[in-house]
Amino acid sequence: MEREEVSEQLRPLSVELTDLALIAKQAHWNLTGPVFRPLHLHLDD
Ligand SMILES: [Fe+2]
Repeated sequence: MEREEVSEQLRPLSVELTDLALIAKQAHWNLTGPVFRPLHLHLDD
């Protein structure tokens, strides 16, 4: 029962973090400048 409650509480956070990860993944293509390549690769990881 406790496990289900914790799962229910964490589900919205999981959705938000997945959304944030997808936004960051998309945004990393908009980097420009001399650090594009190393920063891009860092964010790929
Ligand atoms: Fe990339």
